[in-house]
Amino acid sequence: MPTPYIALNKARVYNAESSYEKFTTVGPKVCMVTANHEGFVGFQNHVQIGVFPMGGRYGGAKMDMHETLNPIGLAQYTMWKHWEDHDAMHYDNFDAIFRLCSQCLDMVVEGPWEPIYEIVAHDLPENVAMTDVPASLGAAWATGQPMPAVSLPYGQRIIAASEHTTVPGREQEFEQAIVDVMTAFKRVPGFLGYMVLKQIGASAIGSLQLVPDGIHQALQTRGDYPPRIKDGNFQTPQAHQTPQEYLVHMEWADMNSAMMGISRVVINHQMRRIHDRVLATLLKGPYVTLWNPLMEDTSWREYLHS
Ligand SMILES: [Fe+2]
Repeated sequence: MPTPYIALNKARVYNAESSYEKFTTVGPKVCMVTANHEGFVGFQNHVQIGVFPMGGRYGGAKMDMHETLNPIGLAQYTMWKHWEDHDAMHYDNFDAIFRLCSQCLDMVVEGPWEPIYEIVAHDLPENVAMTDVPASLGAAWATGQPMPAVSLPYGQRIIAASEHTTVPGREQEFEQAIVDVMTAFKRVPGFLGYMVLKQIGASAIGSLQLVPDGIHQALQTRGDYPPRIKDGNFQTPQAHQTPQEYLVHMEWADMNSAMMGISRVVINHQMRRIHDRVLATLLKGPYVTLWNPLMEDTSWREYLHS
């Protein structure tokens, strides 16, 4: 199977109990509508926990800021057989999604903005519950495969999302160097796996960046009367960002493993030498934020591995 594409719908929302209630009542309905499209292979929705305090910024930035960070990030990953499937799903189900999303607009401080990513490298285990561990490890042992990490679903692990922008012409060098860093992380306690995501565009319709008449129609309703004009104002590849942007998605067993593991790129001499090859390609970054994957359909990993 080809590697899936990821649409990452990003917003920063008012950090309050009312926002979580909307996220948990409206979110599942949006997932059900999204599943109308056969190109949809799964989702993983995150709420931000904190910011990795790099560059001497500890104090303002902390690993765990889920009660104090306001606004706080939402990052909704949907996985697609091809990126065109994502735009087609938004177009085909525009009215239902507009009505549902309108119920959440009053908590949004920034966004939505929905970049599209190609997965250029990955090594992620499948998620299992503790009751599945004997079968999972037994199957690996029986077929002579390496034992997979025990990666627990539904909010029980930490996602570290690391933004990098590369110097033009050094993209391939970055992609190789970051895979070497991730491969070295495999020996670090609690490291579960990673994806290197390359930004290839953004979805106008998923970002509600409609043509001007569509924007006015969207603004003149509270959601009960979706715009008749639902065309996005640009084509997805036109939003390809240059210099090239990458998102390095890492998964860790818990907060302490994320903190001590990622820190190795500055406190461990060998890791530093490997990671310095990444730093040498950068125009901006890395900037690392921490997330909790609280709502997910883990079956997309089976597609990723098929
Ligand atoms: Fe979307």
